Amino acid sequence: RTVYLNGEYIPETEAKVSIFDRGFVMSDGVYEVVSVLDGKLIDFDGHQARLNRSLDALEIGNPMPDADYLAMFRELVARNDITDGMIYLQVTRGNPGDRDFAYPPKDTPQTVVAFTQSKPGLADNPAAQSGWKVITVPDERWGRRDIKTVQLLYPSMAKMAAKAQGADDAWLVEEGKITEGTSNNAYIVKGNTIITRELSHDILHGITRAAVLRLAREAQMTVEERGFTPDEAKQADEAFVTSASAFVMPVVSIDGAKIGTGTPGNVAARLREIYLDEMR
Ligand code: PDD
Repeated sequence: RTVYLNGEYIPETEAKVSIFDRGFVMSDGVYEVVSVLDGKLIDFDGHQARLNRSLDALEIGNPMPDADYLAMFRELVARNDITDGMIYLQVTRGNPGDRDFAYPPKDTPQTVVAFTQSKPGLADNPAAQSGWKVITVPDERWGRRDIKTVQLLYPSMAKMAAKAQGADDAWLVEEGKITEGTSNNAYIVKGNTIITRELSHDILHGITRAAVLRLAREAQMTVEERGFTPDEAKQADEAFVTSASAFVMPVVSIDGAKIGTGTPGNVAARLREIYLDEMR
């Protein structure tokens, strides 16, 4: 595989980053995941805009203009012959010297890494037909979940807890209400109303979420942006999640309780179809 590191396209085995890099010693970095379907980037502009917001929020200098990220992503897709899959991009604060809690000067070169993962048939994932089972766990992440940082240990722990129970993912709960999934935004459906938590520092502002809510409103569905409890979710007609890698993924059970009939719902199926039609 050919990867990108600080302006160069090189074999993955040659891509080396300093052990002093703040991305490594302090998780001081941000990332984006952009899907590729049929060789085409899905919603690049949305992801680029959020990358810029994450960098600004952490006062990490932006090493290059938006157009250069786009050109680089396209180059990686071409060099790796990606039809369906994803691009992972990470920008860290870099760091030339000793470990220090204080940030290095702003003109310190950042580290920029990107690579592709090939996932043939990504949009035809069989899980979309069977739906995900989720469990709930306390949301023990930090307070700025709107910044897409590489601090992903707690979400990984939650994912492992889900797998240990034979589930596919975990929904995180804070003060009695669901925030989001480990790496996706969470929704329930009651009648013709789609309910998902409002935007704040408590959740990542999903790029897929923004597109799906826009398309739902255009299709005359009602959207309520508010928190909901695990109990309300268990009583819902349907549930689903959205992310750049799962698109719209139905959820069929929560903590072992079936949602509706325990099979993927019509609203989720329809939104998945509308989203994929619109974006590819
Ligand atoms: N995760 N919430 C969290 C905590 C996430 O990590 C993600 C994305 C989302 C959905 O955001 P978007 O629709 O912009 O992908 C919500 C990516 C896919 C990941 O970490 O792999």
